[in-house]
Formats: sequence, structure tokens, C-alpha cells
Amino acid sequence: MVHTRFLLAFLLVVVAVATAEKRYDGYGLYRVQQSFQARRFLSNIKGLDWWSRPGPLDTPGDVMVPKDKRLAFEGTLKTRRIRYTLLSDDVQMLINAEKERQSDAIARKGKSDSRITFDRYYSHDEMNAYLDEVASKYPDIAKVESVGKSYEGRELKGITLSSGGSGKPLVFVDAGIHAREWIAPAVALYLIQELTEGSAQDLLKDVDWVILPEVNPDGYEYTRSEDRMWRKTRSKTSSEDCLGVDPNRNFDFHWMESGASSDPCDEIFAGDKAFSESEARALRDYVLANAKNAKAYLTLHSYGQYLLYPWGYDESLPDDWRDLDDLGNAMNDAIKAVRGTEYTVGSSGQALYPAAGASDDWSKGVAGVKYVYTVELPGGGFYGFDLPASEIKPVVEETLQGLRVVGQKVAGM
Ligand code: ARG
Ligand code: ZN
Repeated sequence: MVHTRFLLAFLLVVVAVATAEKRYDGYGLYRVQQSFQARRFLSNIKGLDWWSRPGPLDTPGDVMVPKDKRLAFEGTLKTRRIRYTLLSDDVQMLINAEKERQSDAIARKGKSDSRITFDRYYSHDEMNAYLDEVASKYPDIAKVESVGKSYEGRELKGITLSSGGSGKPLVFVDAGIHAREWIAPAVALYLIQELTEGSAQDLLKDVDWVILPEVNPDGYEYTRSEDRMWRKTRSKTSSEDCLGVDPNRNFDFHWMESGASSDPCDEIFAGDKAFSESEARALRDYVLANAKNAKAYLTLHSYGQYLLYPWGYDESLPDDWRDLDDLGNAMNDAIKAVRGTEYTVGSSGQALYPAAGASDDWSKGVAGVKYVYTVELPGGGFYGFDLPASEIKPVVEETLQGLRVVGQKVAGM
């Protein structure tokens, strides 16, 4: 046992060196407690990577700071009297720990059958294979289609689940717009499993479900092999050194008006123009193709435990915000009942921070879907995006109860 672990660790080092994976040695992870002014101030500092942005009120934000910027960063926090705690002194150590857990899970899996198990994270190929497997196993209810290609040519596969009949209300779910938010596609796959052969089959009676589990596979695969903290797509930009666009700033609705950047080197680069990214265009077209019956649009992200409804481009609210707030609270109640996980419910602009050009605002403002939510799933303690593989199951299970409430709500619409 000891030997196996040692060997795995050794192999990981060899692999890391061989592929020149991006490393985060000495990077600091801080949880910053903030006032409104502090939040304003800190969001202007360049070169920081916000894993979860500080919200209004007392919600803290987690930020990763490169080694060479830490001294200055801490100095700023101290002079501004901003309270913080150091979550990790070395982000690379967090990444290594999660890698080791992953390899253990894969090794444990051995040669058991191909069934999806939710005790590890899956590659993009494995996800697509799972969709095909579902389609061939349940040809009467499942239809898989290619809805586009990623920048690097990976197939974007979506699945429609329907018990038949036409014109039923429909729930559209996507995940994985942001590459490093690994738990999000896992929730989408779990939803597919439960709708087809698990505890959610009843939800197929009066509602159709359209699910795109992995919007940004290039970024996702990049997080698996090169840079665990990658967020964006992998397309070429005007800057030679900086690749990728934030697909969730690339939608053509109040594009670039707030919380987005025109600098290709930023994590929230909105692209040279709206819908510059093939992934964002594919999602747009898939939503539009289903817009007539779509009553709800859910986009799965992590982390922070937020249920966010429009608008996100500023602090204003849609006319029917009370409906969205009510259903959001009902989702929260259902999730909380499972094991106590609590979400904050509110509009993106008010409860989180204004950011324009996201898929949620576009789905409501342009595609005309009524119930629209960005679901910020739980993160894993100190690990943030590295929710330990052992936590996948409890998270997907509790989240399903929230999705169930949405299905029940739209059933009568
Ligand atoms: N974490 C998500 C992001 O930064 C939140 C998006 C919320 N929606 C919005 N329109 N701002 O992309
Ligand atoms: Zn995200």
C-alpha cells in the first residue's frame, strides 16, 4: 500500500515534468473579508485570480496570488486594514493532494464495468461516451446530437431526454463553461443518469430535459493535463502570450458593460467581439433551438453556493424577479433538507457582483426563458475548485433535489 502510493506520487512527478505542467509552487490562497470599499479597491489589482469573488455584505472572497506578488498584496491588505486569512501557503500542494486522491480512485476502479460511478472526475471523451451509452440503452427517451465543435475540434454533445409527445415544457441545463469548475459537469451527468434510470424518472413524465454537460472541453482537458486553474477557452487572441476567452463574458447582451475585460491576459477577457467563441455560439444556438418550450435555463458553475438569477450585468432586477426569487428559495430549501448545505439566493448583480455578457442574462434577455439561474455549486473546503472526489456523490445527490424543484415548477407551465 505504502509502496503503491509512493509509486503513484513518483509517477505524478514524472508526468508533471514530462508535460511541463503549469505549477503553483508558493502561490498563496487568501480568504479576504471585505467591506464594500475594500471590494472595489481589490478588484482593481492586476494579476490576481479570484476563485470566488467577494460579494456585498460580509461574504468573503478567495483569491490566488502569485508568489512574487504576495508581499505587496499582504502589505496592501494590512495598510487598508482588510481582514484576511491565509488558506494555503502553497497552492501546488493542494493540487498534488487532489491528484493523489484521483489516482487512488482510478486505481481502485480497476477493471470494473464502464458504468459511471461518481467517485472520480471524468475526461471529456468519457463524458461523450457516457452520453452515447445512454442513447443506445434508452433509444425511446434519449437523443444525442452534436451541437458544435470546440476551438480545438472537440465535439460538443448535447442530450435531449423526453418521454414523448410534443410541446412539453422544457428545462435546459449546461455545465462546464468554466474549465476548472469540475463538479459542474459531474452534476449534469448525474442528472442524466437519474432521469433515465434513477430516482428522477418521474420528472420525465411532463417535462423534457436538454442537457449540455461540457460547454468548454478544450479548457477542461487543459485543466486535466496542463493547468488545473484554467478557466477560459483555448482560442488564439491578439496577444501572443495569452490564450482564451471567458465564454461567460462572450454573450451578446450588454456585452462588455461590466465585470469584463478587454485584455486577453485577464481571466475575464470578454473576447474581441461578442460570440467570438465557437463554444458560446454552440450554446447560443442550442438554447435558441429549444427556446420555444424552454421554461428554465440552469447553468452550472462552482464555487460559492449561490443560486443567482438575472440580471447580472448590473444591479437592476427583471419585472418577474419575485417569481425567480421564490423558486430559488424553494430550490435552496430542497437542497438544504438533504444534509444542511445552504445557498445564498439573489440576483447576480446584487448578491455577487455585476458581470455582463454571461449566458444567464442572454438566456432571459434574448432567448426569453423565464426561470434562469446560475448555480454556483459547493467548493471543497481549502481546495476550492478541487472538491475532493469523495465529495462528488454527496454534492450531486443534494443538487438533484434542487433541480427536481425546477422540474416540478415548470411541469405545469
Ligand atoms: N461566477 C460566474 C461568473 O463570474 C457568475 C456569473 C453570474 N451571472 C452574471 N450574469 N454575472 O461568470
Ligand atoms: Zn464559473
